[in-house]
Parts: sequence; C-alpha cells; structure tokens
Amino acid sequence: MEFVVNGAPVRADVDIRTSLLDLLREHLQLTGTKKGCDQGACGACTILVEGTRINSCLALAVQYQGRSITTVEGLAGAGGLHPLQEAFIAHDGFQCGYCTPGQLCSAVAMQEELACGIPSQVTDDLVDEAIQPSRDEIRERMSGNLCRCGAYNGIVEAIRSTMSGVDA
Ligand code: FES
Ligand code: FES
Repeated sequence: MEFVVNGAPVRADVDIRTSLLDLLREHLQLTGTKKGCDQGACGACTILVEGTRINSCLALAVQYQGRSITTVEGLAGAGGLHPLQEAFIAHDGFQCGYCTPGQLCSAVAMQEELACGIPSQVTDDLVDEAIQPSRDEIRERMSGNLCRCGAYNGIVEAIRSTMSGVDA
C-alpha cells in the first residue's frame, strides 16, 4: 500500500485488516499517535487526512491508500513548533502528555471547521458563518478527545490563545 505521510511518500506491505493506527505505529514507527481505547472512544489516535480529523483506530489502512496523512510528527514546520504546540506549552495544556498528540491534531482540524462556519451542537445561530470561538464551542468541538489528567482548562485556553476574535 502507498500513502503520503507528513509530506513524504511511503510504502507498506501490511495485512488488509491493519488499522491506520497500527500502520502508523507498528509499521512506520510513527509512535506519536497514541492508542488509548482502540475503539473510537478516547480520541488519542486522532490524525488528519487531508485536513479532516479522524480516529485512526477505527480506520483501515487499506481505505486510505494514496491519501495525504498528517500525524503529530508532521505539525511542526521548518520554522519550529506549530502555534498550537507552543500554546499547549504556554498554557499547561497537558500533564502526562498521552492525549496531547490527538488533542493537537483535533484542534488543528477543529479550528478549520470553525473558520468554515460549520456549526456544532452548542452553536446558537446555525446560519451565522462567523461563529464565536467561545469556551463552550471549543469544549463541545473537542469533546471527542478525552484527557485522563484533566488538563481541559489548559487545553481550552491554549486553543483560544491561537484564535482571533475570542472574547476574554
Ligand atoms: S484509540 Fe482511537 S479513539 Fe481511542
Ligand atoms: S495530559 Fe495526560 S491524558 Fe491528557
């Protein structure tokens, strides 16, 4: 199977029952993406496929052949850490760090969803494309990413700090 992972073409000869998460961790040695529940409940395995966040434990690698995949290892650029990575450090957005790769990938895609005007369960005005990134909006949109350490307040503040148009 062939993929593009963090901008580089990769090939892997794996069983067709291999999950995308196991492909990354066990075959490509990209262990930044974490396995928590392995059943779609915790978000630790969140990665980006062409900008869309998915739980890689629920995806078969064979489904994603030829697609462009970004993991936490691919978030930083030549200029240094991704702004969200910097913000998580500055705002204590983690303790043990196990959930952090998934939180970061999820936050990257979540901010894009907000910018596109995609409403959430708690959005008041469903036709307003300029959705305010309130704490409730961010909490709802990040609710698929659990943190056993309870670093939620830091995570929310870190995400908010990288967004324009937030109120105090
Ligand atoms: S490991 Fe994929 S959602 Fe928990
Ligand atoms: S920082 Fe430990 S699980 Fe989130």
